[in-house]
Amino acid sequence: MARILVAGCGYVGGALASQLVAAGHAVFGLKRRPEGLPAGVAPLAADLADRASLEAALAGVALPIDVVVYAAAADAGDDDAYRRAYVDGLRNLLGALRARGAAPRHVFFTSSTAVYAQDDGAVVDETSETAPADFRGARMLEAERVLAASGWPVTSLRLGGIYGPGRTRMIESVRSGRASIRPGPPRWGNRIHRDDAAGALAHLVALALRGEPLPPLLVGVDDEPADEAVVLRWIASQLGVGEPPVREEPAEPGARGARRAGSNKRCSNARLRATGYRFRHPSFREGYAAALTAP
Ligand SMILES: NC(=O)c1ccc[n+]([C@@H]2O[C@H](COP(=O)([O-])OP(=O)(O)OC[C@H]3O[C@@H](n4cnc5c(N)ncnc54)[C@H](OP(=O)(O)O)[C@@H]3O)[C@@H](O)[C@H]2O)c1
Repeated sequence: MARILVAGCGYVGGALASQLVAAGHAVFGLKRRPEGLPAGVAPLAADLADRASLEAALAGVALPIDVVVYAAAADAGDDDAYRRAYVDGLRNLLGALRARGAAPRHVFFTSSTAVYAQDDGAVVDETSETAPADFRGARMLEAERVLAASGWPVTSLRLGGIYGPGRTRMIESVRSGRASIRPGPPRWGNRIHRDDAAGALAHLVALALRGEPLPPLLVGVDDEPADEAVVLRWIASQLGVGEPPVREEPAEPGARGARRAGSNKRCSNARLRATGYRFRHPSFREGYAAALTAP
């Protein structure tokens, strides 16, 4: 049994915490409002933006803290919120752990494929250029550097778009008739089901606890980058509704409903798979199937 801290214990962190509890570990779930954490997770109330609150919370946690997973997310979609949540929050937590005398065997950070600006359908992996198009990717990269500078063994897992129970925006857009298809060449998107984001992290935690070396960077997406039009048409066929209409003009970047620059790329999960992880939902089809049949 290991002692594991999940900082930012929300959608992914909570699912991970559940899996870790089921595997027999002692799990601490840190968030500002820790009510309603999964069964068996010890709640820690603290604000990652406030180093003193972290030190106070960690003072109540006996050592060792074997593994730390940082899975907090920004409250808002602006640069300040991103800096607070990813850069400052991670720096504060690492500092508070050090002040506590903790020496984790591994620290994980849930980064994002937003660090890649490639927008031409290119295949990208951990060796690809990172020149983020906006502050989202830039702050994630900054946080990855903060993590790498910790001196502890670390892994940043660059997650694609997370979906799963309660996060079925695409299905709802097709069901409601709001969805439309962008004309022109494929627009490649990359996603991962919540249970695979959590599952991959649980798998990596297990490897770290066995003392196996892990790469400092991993891309966390499913096996199949998918053209958005293909996904929308597949959902429509499953729902038995008409295909979403093709828009008359390509949406201008920045227009309402347009996808942000940097969203047209094909992320490879080969390195993650090489660690031995096998996806429960290898593509959007398996992942959305459960949601489509849910009442
Ligand atoms: N959503 C996506 O498509 C996507 C894509 C790529 C990467 N990611 C990354 O994946 C990770 C997990 O995302 P998620 O969807 O699971 O996020 P989420 O559901 O929003 O959970 C984030 C958790 O962080 C906690 N938190 C936020 N600010 C905090 C603070 N200052 N102090 C303490 N706790 C704080 C929140 O709880 P309280 O409010 O109670 O504090 C919340 O439970 C994030 O790092 C995100 O950036 C997400």
